Amino acid sequence: MDLNTIESDDIGTAAGQPAVLSPAAKKVFIKTYGCQMNVYDSQRMTDALAADGYAATDAIGEADLVLLNTCHIREKAAEKVYSELGRIRDMKAERALAGREMLVGVAGCVAQAEGAEIIRRSPAVDLVIGPQTYHRLPDVLARVRGGEKIVETDYAIEDKFEHLPQPKRAEVIKRGVTAFLTVQEGCDKFCTFCVVPYTRGSEVSRPVAQIVAEAERLAEAGVREVTLLGQNVNAWHGRSETKGGRTEEWGLGRLLFRLAEIPGLARLRYTTSHPRDMDDELIAAHRDLPALMPYLHLPVQSGSDRILKAMNRRHTAKDYLALLDRIRTARPDIALSGDFIVGFPGETEADFEATMDLVRQVNYASAFSFKYSPRPGTPGAEMPDHVPETVKDGRLQRLQALLVKQQQDFGLSLVGSTIDTLIEKPGRQAGQKVGRSPWLQPVIVDEKAGEIGDIIQVRITKTGYNSLFAELA
Ligand code: 5AD
Ligand code: SF4
Repeated sequence: MDLNTIESDDIGTAAGQPAVLSPAAKKVFIKTYGCQMNVYDSQRMTDALAADGYAATDAIGEADLVLLNTCHIREKAAEKVYSELGRIRDMKAERALAGREMLVGVAGCVAQAEGAEIIRRSPAVDLVIGPQTYHRLPDVLARVRGGEKIVETDYAIEDKFEHLPQPKRAEVIKRGVTAFLTVQEGCDKFCTFCVVPYTRGSEVSRPVAQIVAEAERLAEAGVREVTLLGQNVNAWHGRSETKGGRTEEWGLGRLLFRLAEIPGLARLRYTTSHPRDMDDELIAAHRDLPALMPYLHLPVQSGSDRILKAMNRRHTAKDYLALLDRIRTARPDIALSGDFIVGFPGETEADFEATMDLVRQVNYASAFSFKYSPRPGTPGAEMPDHVPETVKDGRLQRLQALLVKQQQDFGLSLVGSTIDTLIEKPGRQAGQKVGRSPWLQPVIVDEKAGEIGDIIQVRITKTGYNSLFAELA
C-alpha cells in the first residue's frame, strides 16, 4: 500500500501563519509490503518525517526520499524488494542527470535480516533501518545527507513509541475511520518456519496508558474501529496503575474491556493471535463486549500433530479444536480465519490430509495459505525431507479450493440477513459506498445509505467474490 500526500497544515507551520507548503518542501514516497504492522509502521514513519519537513507523495518520480518498508516472511516477499530496488536505481540515476537527489532507504524486516548486505547488492541504497529504530529516522537522514551510508539495525534500548511523534489530527482524519494500533511487537514462540523472532526480536508490550492515550486520540479524530496489532498480539501484557496506587498486570482481554469504554470507538479487533495465548479473560471479552467484533484470526498452520510438533507450535490439532469450541460457546456468531503452510519438511500425504480434515471440521470464513518457503537461519530450513515444489503446488491448490468454497459458503449464508455495516469510503463505482461487515467483508451499498463513519443496518442481497452487496434494512 502506498501512502497518500500529507496536507499542508501538517507541515510544521508557525502558529498564526497561513499553512502554506514551502516550495522547497521535501517529498517522501513510502512503499509498504507485507503485514498490517508494516502499514502502521509506515504511517508512523510518515509522521516522524512530517516533523522533519517531509510531505508524503504517492508519485515516486517526485520523491526526494524513497523508503521501502519490507517483508521477509517468505522468500518471494524479499525477492520483490530487490527487483524494485533495481527499478529505483534507474530512477535515481535519471533524477541525478536532472541535478536532483533521490535518497533510497530500506526499512522493515528485510532491512533487519539482511543489514549491510542490501547496500552491497544494491549500491543505490543510502540507508537501511530496522523496525526497532524508526524514531531515529530524522537523525539517520541528517547523517545520510552528510554523505554517509547508514545501516541502523540494533534492537534499540529506548522505547521507540515514546519517541515517535503522534500523527496530527488532520492526518488521522485523512487516513479514515478505521485505524491500526500496535500494542505488542516481536515474538518468543520460535515456530521453526518463522523469521519473525529474528527480525522483530523478542516480545515487547506497550504500556496500558500509552495504548489508551493513542486510542483516545484516534477516537477524538473520528476513528470508529481500531485493530490492535501484534505479531503475537494475545501475548500482550501490560502494567496498569489502579485507583489505589498499586500496579496490576493486565492481559489483552482486560485491555479490550478498557478500550471499549472510549467514547466513539464502536468496533475493536485484534490480530494475530497464537492458540496458546487465548486465555479465559480474552474469551470472556468475546462473550461480553459487543464492540469486540465476532471475527478471530487464529492460525493453526497444520492439522497434523507430527507436523505441528516439528513446527514447534506447542499445541495439537485436538487442543486447537477444543479451544474453538470454548470460543464458539462464548460467542456463537464468531467467524474463524486462519493461516496454513503446506509442504513443511517431512509433510506426507497423510499429514496433509489431516490438515484438510481439520479445515472441514472448523469451517473457516476466510484463510491464508502458503507453500512452505525455507527461511535462512530458521530451524525448518535445516530439516531433512524437503517437499518437492510440484507436490507443494498440488497440495496448495487442493487446500485453497476447499478454503475458497468455505469462504463463499459463509458469504452466501448471510444473504437475506440484516447486519451492521461501518461505512468506510466511497466505492470504486460511482453511486456506491463501501462498508465493512462485522466479519471483515467489504459491503457495497448505495452512496446515500449513510455517511462515512456511520454504522448502519443493511440487508444482504447477494455476494461477490469476496464482498457482499446490500440495501438499507
Ligand atoms: N513459509 C511459508 N509460510 C510462512 N509463514 C510464515 N513463515 C513462513 C514460511 N517460512 C506464514 C504463516 C504465518 C503467516 C503470516 O505466514 O502461515 O502465520
Ligand atoms: Fe512466527 Fe507467529 Fe510463530 Fe511467532 S507465533 S514464531 S510470529 S508464526
